[in-house]
Amino acid sequence: MSKSTTEIRQAFLDFFYSKGHQIISSSSLVPENDPTLLFTNAGMNQFKDVFLGLDNRSYRRATTSQRCVRVGGKHNDLENVGYTTRHHTFFEMLGNFSFGDYFKHEAILFAWELLTEKKWFNLPKDKLWVTVYATDDETYDIWAKEVGLPIKQIIRIGDNKGSTYASDNFWQMGNTGPCGPCSEIFYDHGEHIWGGPPGSLEENGDRYTEIWNLVFIQFNRQADGNLLVLPKPSVDTGMGLERIAAILQHVHSNYDIDLFKTLISAVEEVTGSKYPNSKSLRVIADHIRSCAFLISDGVIPSKEGRGYILRRIIRRAIRHGNMLGASDTFFYKLVSPLIINMTGSNENHIKSQQTMIEQVLRNEEEQFARTLKRGLMLLDNELAKLTNDTLDGEIAFRLYDTYGFPLDLTADICRERNLHVDKSGFNLEMEAQRKRARTSSGFSINYNNLLSVNKTTRFFGYEYLEHQGCITALFRDGQPVDTIFQGEEAVVVLDETPFYGESGGQVGDKGILKAASMIFKVADTQKYGKIFFHHGKLSYGVLQLGMKVIAQVDSVRRKRICLNHSAIHLLHAALLQILSKHIEQKGSLVNDHHLRFDFSYNKDIKLEQIHWIEKLVNEQIRRNLPIKTDILKLEDARKKGVVKLFNEKYDSHVRILSIGDFSTELCGGTHTSRTGDIGLFHIISEFSTAAGIRRIEALTAEEALESLHQKNDIVKYIAKLVKGDSQTLIDKIRVMQERYQQLKKDLKQLKNQQAIQKSTFLSSKVRDINGVQVLVSQLNSSEPEILRTIVDNLKNQLESAVIILASVLNGKINLIAGVTKDLINLVKANDIIAYLVKQVNGKGGGHPEMAQANGKNISALPAALSSIDAILVEKFK
Ligand code: ALA
Repeated sequence: MSKSTTEIRQAFLDFFYSKGHQIISSSSLVPENDPTLLFTNAGMNQFKDVFLGLDNRSYRRATTSQRCVRVGGKHNDLENVGYTTRHHTFFEMLGNFSFGDYFKHEAILFAWELLTEKKWFNLPKDKLWVTVYATDDETYDIWAKEVGLPIKQIIRIGDNKGSTYASDNFWQMGNTGPCGPCSEIFYDHGEHIWGGPPGSLEENGDRYTEIWNLVFIQFNRQADGNLLVLPKPSVDTGMGLERIAAILQHVHSNYDIDLFKTLISAVEEVTGSKYPNSKSLRVIADHIRSCAFLISDGVIPSKEGRGYILRRIIRRAIRHGNMLGASDTFFYKLVSPLIINMTGSNENHIKSQQTMIEQVLRNEEEQFARTLKRGLMLLDNELAKLTNDTLDGEIAFRLYDTYGFPLDLTADICRERNLHVDKSGFNLEMEAQRKRARTSSGFSINYNNLLSVNKTTRFFGYEYLEHQGCITALFRDGQPVDTIFQGEEAVVVLDETPFYGESGGQVGDKGILKAASMIFKVADTQKYGKIFFHHGKLSYGVLQLGMKVIAQVDSVRRKRICLNHSAIHLLHAALLQILSKHIEQKGSLVNDHHLRFDFSYNKDIKLEQIHWIEKLVNEQIRRNLPIKTDILKLEDARKKGVVKLFNEKYDSHVRILSIGDFSTELCGGTHTSRTGDIGLFHIISEFSTAAGIRRIEALTAEEALESLHQKNDIVKYIAKLVKGDSQTLIDKIRVMQERYQQLKKDLKQLKNQQAIQKSTFLSSKVRDINGVQVLVSQLNSSEPEILRTIVDNLKNQLESAVIILASVLNGKINLIAGVTKDLINLVKANDIIAYLVKQVNGKGGGHPEMAQANGKNISALPAALSSIDAILVEKFK
């Protein structure tokens, strides 16, 4: 019996565990601290800083099963999903890593043992082919001489992507970052499938599939393309779990493995599909995986960035469901089968958030369903009109802008009909709309230049707000320099600092760095890996590498931040008690003005609940609880239940913050020492930021008091305006509202009376044109509604007539035409109006009995009205 996907994943981890590797949990799909990467796209991402030498771990060998998403960014598979047997938006990458420990030799021998040993994957040796980077003789020799692979199965691949080190056998994470030559292992599915070995003309066929990539990390690619040699050569490998499962389960397509089979049946069930082999089934089964995991990692569908990519995937899935005949919202119903499906890996991560994920998906689906049909109709019309095979970029943009069709959705539909989209035309339209370019921070720094900093920063800011440090690096305009001169903006790195670098939702510190005749004003502190960057401007003096400075944090500001940070912990604990113990933190911000806490919760929060939360937090403040930190071993923290998730990236020791008996949480932030310091806690807003996510914003101490004063002042001011006091205010306003409604009614009545009077007066001005009663008249400053009432009145009074009225109000012409039913065969109100608007430069319309318009050209009005007679004479002959 072949192994299940769950067993294969476990076997991989067990194998490397037996080779001294620590099993590390998958990290989030949203990369931490890495602005260069959209989504986690490889197992090595969570170790990027370790490869670069910026971070140290307690282990030098690790193995993971990492959840990955390859949509957007350098590795983008979205358009292939559904069309090939082996592309996914979401997949699990099995990997083993060496951080300066073993290199090529062991990496290759481990891989070979796992793949071919009977005890492990037991694959036939003659089915395995490998590629090596063209000039990498060392790797070639290991395969040929040590492993003993026949040389016909070893292929050298050189630079085949246009420049040096741009090759299928040179792997890099993105445009910058760790990289190196690689050796890929391929599996030959057999002659019955078309395709040739790597490097051959038929390599794109499906016969030989790549199953494992062994990367020998040696360099860090810089933004300018240069490769910096890393201090310690390392190993990063990646094997697609779904691909190896296909081979071990003797199926050709990844979509035929156990995991996808059950998921595809679930798709059939929820969509009611009658097309058993449709690619849409595969698309949906693939997409529910990426969508559910992205949402569980905190991504919410939105108009830009990560949220927009999620939206694109969801919308693509919904359209495919539509093609399968789904008549109702269906996508969210797949979360439950997915959870069952993922047993053994990552499933706890989505299980605990099931309701929230379902709700986000459902909302998005309902929202899109409203425009999907209309958009498809427009697209169908446009495609029918095409005279060539390319859809205009402008139409694709209109679909995007008005109907929410992401470009790849439109491209997908076109592709089904062998048509293309003019993508550059689309981009031009998009660019035009996006003129408001984002302002980028004046202190930007090239992440990869960090490598030139070879010393990490020790943080002393828990204990001290002033501390001496020595300058270990300086940057101007993102480039490393030795000296900074007066007036220049720069980034300063110290060996030791009391400045807190932005992290965990807490903003970075401000303050000054000073020495004799030098002051550098720090406007912000950021942290990458273990290095702290003080961004700011040199007020006077000179800064030089190696110089000693006193770093002095703005203590008043820091104190406020601490109060807000401690208060956010109280708030979190209070929410768990009052709303639900299942709420999960989704984001936070703590600065010197306020605090903001986002969390999953799928109900509205009532005003009284807000009061309870405020009350509970303020009670803890009055209890004046001690706030303590402890450094615990990760295992001990897990035992205590403080660290619940296994899939987060933690160091071997974690910092635990406890507030009396009320709250215990992991936290690296800075805090006050007793809750009493917070003084007062006040919630200023509560709302939903996305489906299933709520946000609370609150203030502490003076800011809280100030906000209460302001509100009080507003109440007093309004009371004064309505000549009441805070007790009678509500009643007074209610009375005023009622009076206002009454006045509106009275005014309407008055206007009607006025209209009746005007009608009576006008009826005396009716003329006879060839036996038809006609009234053409210009009134003074009457509003459109009055004109309408007058026309209705006159129609009733006169029984058979053509009435045309105009008035000029606020520099604008109002026109109306009414024709009684018996006359509409002779002349139509909308034709009269159409005739008039042309002359007065206006706009309007209506139907044969009544039409209205407005116009701009007031001086043309008398002539326009006079011109009517001639027309009517003609019509009534
Ligand atoms: N990081 C390498 C890859 O993704 C293993 O192929």
